[in-house]
Amino acid sequence: MFVHPSSHAFEPFKYKTLEDLKNELKRLSISLPISSITENLCEAIQSKHIIIPNRLSIQPMEGFDATLNGSPSDLTFRRYKRYAKGGVGLIWFEATAISEDCRSNDHQLVLSEDNVQNFKQLTSLIRDQCDRTLKSLGFKNRCRLILQLNHSGRYSKRKGHKYPIRTYHNDELDNAISVKREEGVIISDNELKEIEEIWINKAILAKEAGFDGVDIKACHGYLISELLSARDRKDSKYGGKSLENRSKLFLDIISLLQNKFRKDSDFLITSRVGVYDGIPYPKGFGVKRIADQKFPASIDLEEPVDLVNKLYELDVKLLNITAGNPHYVGHITRPYDVPIKGVKLPQEHPLFSAYRIIYLASVIKSLTPRDMIIIGSGYSYFRQFAGNLAAGVIQKGMADICGFGRMSFANPEFAKQIFQGKTIDKAKSCIACSKCSQFMREGKSTGCAVRDPEYRNRE
Ligand SMILES: Cc1cc2nc3c(=O)[nH]c(=O)nc-3n(C[C@H](O)[C@H](O)[C@H](O)COP(=O)(O)O)c2cc1C
Repeated sequence: MFVHPSSHAFEPFKYKTLEDLKNELKRLSISLPISSITENLCEAIQSKHIIIPNRLSIQPMEGFDATLNGSPSDLTFRRYKRYAKGGVGLIWFEATAISEDCRSNDHQLVLSEDNVQNFKQLTSLIRDQCDRTLKSLGFKNRCRLILQLNHSGRYSKRKGHKYPIRTYHNDELDNAISVKREEGVIISDNELKEIEEIWINKAILAKEAGFDGVDIKACHGYLISELLSARDRKDSKYGGKSLENRSKLFLDIISLLQNKFRKDSDFLITSRVGVYDGIPYPKGFGVKRIADQKFPASIDLEEPVDLVNKLYELDVKLLNITAGNPHYVGHITRPYDVPIKGVKLPQEHPLFSAYRIIYLASVIKSLTPRDMIIIGSGYSYFRQFAGNLAAGVIQKGMADICGFGRMSFANPEFAKQIFQGKTIDKAKSCIACSKCSQFMREGKSTGCAVRDPEYRNRE
């Protein structure tokens, strides 16, 4: 059981050795497995007909460096080439808008009939580079490429201005991004229904562009994820008390996609699912039904587990599990040592924040059928020790693949370093300083301002 650790105050990362880290985890009564042997990260894993060559993945990280028509730019190519040289078995491409009017930034990627060839160039180049890297590391199978498709919902922007497309009113979420109730819209049932088709068409384009699968993004407070907690959306097929209604858009899209690609068993339909956002009931998802809770609310995974099992019944056999709404509170999604400007330090130890997200994925793993492949998050905070944690987590069956977000910006060769030297290079590691998140908040192109010279002077 997850006990909320209010008794341990925030302390930044200070562990010089694996022993120091283990001792601190022990002091905090955090049960996270740390392994000194990392060979298990080299093992392949199979989802349906698709083999993923090893247990490390790049998590989706928005670069906001697309051209204005949503195509990958030179900077986008550069980011993915760096990943492809790193040795991971799976590259989960960043949030790509399903249409121009639901982007969260004018420079977000948008996949369209006009630019599908540009995406094709990107996947083909990345695939070739991945092949070379994986071969040189002794892997027999090819790297897999998944595209995350998203509708930014409440976090949409039009011509650089915030234009929230909400599924229901939540003044607190509005305040967090400084928008007023009158700005933007509440999306209607008809409009939600129309979106289904756009999503299907974009998935078809993603296949044409050379991806191995698509992620119907259902996390971090964006449209589909917001619907999961839309209890206050009244008189709607897509909201109210029942999870059936709140997950209707999500499951309808998945079901349509499975029918569409039924004959094409090599194309993966998957999702990055936010299983807990910490927002107190009734506005939160994955939280206990208790009145007057404070943030972060107690965890209750009954609905998320129900949802994940429904996805399994719809033949979804690979899921990427995450938590939090980073537009509201960042540390649930990405534990850090330094917050972005103007944000107070969390009132919990960052190792607890990291533990929470790993624990959530492990509960989902334990309560779903064995052949559901679960990808977990929250590893970058552990810096040079992240590979030891990942190996421990895989060994204990708490997840099947460990995904790295900020580490991929800072040190895209982290996987190679683990496979070759058994530990991540400390001098290249992410330091959880939130500078990449700060870039995102300011609408700039994102990258690592500490480790990557390309972004050092962009602050
Ligand atoms: C700059 C930035 C961009 C991100 N972009 C995405 C995204 O496109 N899609 C997504 O699902 N998560 C996104 N995330 C969240 C990461 O994928 C990841 O879940 C988070 O950073 C925690 O993992 P980490 O500790 O390895 O960084 C982003 C995070 C950051 C800091």
